[in-house]
Amino acid sequence: MNRLLNQEDPRLRTIAEPVPMDVFNSAWLKELVHSMLEIMKAKGAVGVAAPQIGVNKRIIVFGTAYSRRRRSEVIIPDAILINPVIEHLSAEKESGYEGCLNCADLMGPVARSLEIDYAGYHIDGRPIKKHATGLEARILQHEVDHLDGLLFLDRIEDKASLTTYEKLKQEENPA
Ligand code: NI
Repeated sequence: MNRLLNQEDPRLRTIAEPVPMDVFNSAWLKELVHSMLEIMKAKGAVGVAAPQIGVNKRIIVFGTAYSRRRRSEVIIPDAILINPVIEHLSAEKESGYEGCLNCADLMGPVARSLEIDYAGYHIDGRPIKKHATGLEARILQHEVDHLDGLLFLDRIEDKASLTTYEKLKQEENPA
């Protein structure tokens, strides 16, 4: 199985390449997506992008079914998106806490568009076009950033606002 890279790894800082048409439906792509979904499940994460495990391709998976940190009112079922493109529909942004599988326990507030349209392809090359708000829009923006060599840390203006999941939990439920 592919391994999650460390925060300092330069491979997290490269622009990922689009998946060429002839790779759709290949065993390689199916195995890769399968292992990305397995990592998401094992880590209780809401999304994984291929560059996070050292694969320099524009592929993401997301969903909230395994989330340990987020109690989402509506479960977003497992989804796969290849060569994703995001269109920001709202100038308005909302700040919300994010973490990342490459950044250990670090969490911090990131401003993201409240409403987006996104497009891309399913594993068999079928086109996908969807509208997303709230948590789904946030996850998409975080994962697509990975494809462009960005980490959520880069979007935090005030580094003093960086915290950890444990500290956040304590603030919410003081003993
Ligand atoms: Ni991440």
